[in-house]
Amino acid sequence: MKYRKLGRTDFEVSEIGYGAWGIGASQWLGGNDKESLAALRRAIELGLNFIDTALAYGNGHSEQLVGQVVREAGRRIYVATKAPPKNLLWPAQPGIGIAEVFPYDYILRSTERSLKNLGVETIDLLQLHVWNPEWIGDDDWRRAFAELKSSGKVRAVGISINDHQPDSALEIIETGLIDTVQVIYNIFDQSPERNLFPLAIERGIGVIARVPLDEGSLAGTIDENTRFPAGDFRNEYFKGDRKKQVREHVESLRRDLEADANLPEVALRFCLSHPAVSTVIPGMRSLRNAEANCAVPDKGPLPAETLAVLRRHVWDRNFYD
Ligand SMILES: NC(=O)c1ccc[n+]([C@@H]2O[C@H](COP(=O)([O-])OP(=O)(O)OC[C@H]3O[C@@H](n4cnc5c(N)ncnc54)[C@H](OP(=O)(O)O)[C@@H]3O)[C@@H](O)[C@H]2O)c1
Repeated sequence: MKYRKLGRTDFEVSEIGYGAWGIGASQWLGGNDKESLAALRRAIELGLNFIDTALAYGNGHSEQLVGQVVREAGRRIYVATKAPPKNLLWPAQPGIGIAEVFPYDYILRSTERSLKNLGVETIDLLQLHVWNPEWIGDDDWRRAFAELKSSGKVRAVGISINDHQPDSALEIIETGLIDTVQVIYNIFDQSPERNLFPLAIERGIGVIARVPLDEGSLAGTIDENTRFPAGDFRNEYFKGDRKKQVREHVESLRRDLEADANLPEVALRFCLSHPAVSTVIPGMRSLRNAEANCAVPDKGPLPAETLAVLRRHVWDRNFYD
């Protein structure tokens, strides 16, 4: 494992972090707590020390599993969680004011629930689970962040940026009031490189790269025959002819890479090849995936020729719609 500084915080976080949405077991089905806990513990044994969870992941279930593992770990593990939008609307919708989504008292109450689920005194990083740049001048988030930091309930604060809208975070970074951003960054969506990453580097903002495998597309195993359990969010994400589209894009990507290239490894190394990225957080509910992913940092960044090839595989679309 290798470590990077999370922006201007003093956290030295592992290049591979743990994406804990799947282990919430409400929108991702087909796993189980025993296997999830084993994968998380194994990742920690292999040097992982950063976990991204959220109150919304299984209504506290993911936070509870994470808390259990962190308390028994015997060494410093950094936990990031998120306050869900009060109106439960993902992504944030234009025209809906902060009073409906993140009023001051609500952010504080939500943080208390997360502290309880995690069973810790302090949350390392609290993120707003959605962000709408129209709230930039509002007081609620500013006061809540200041209060949570000064009371010692959270160490650092940030936002999770709406899907495929990296530039919607530029203004809040400029305020100097957040420490991190979490953003979709993968071979298909390279858009954060344009404006967000240069600004994050300039301002010392930590970058958490999420959905590095495009919800599984970049693991290279999805085609028209892939089936997900009933009620699993991926039935929506990969609906209609999207599995076929994914297969075609992945086939084209594979044709351009070395014959023996390991696709999930290339996808994670792609994210780690950008200096703005502090940590990349794949979901990994199995021992096999945890072990494979934690070995990726040792391979180092991708060579420039491979990055040049990957530039040709940007795919502009929004499957969350
Ligand atoms: N709005 C937000 O703030 C937001 C939204 C989405 C995600 N996130 C965060 O980002 C994290 C990562 O995104 P994600 O979990 O949605 O998707 P992802 O990391 O892009 O993909 C996860 C999928 O890839 C599979 N996988 C992982 N490593 C693999 C490997 N080495 N080989 C083959 N398959 C592999 C996983 O398997 P398993 O099924 O076995 O685990 C899972 O099916 C989330 O867990 C969450 O913490 C935040």
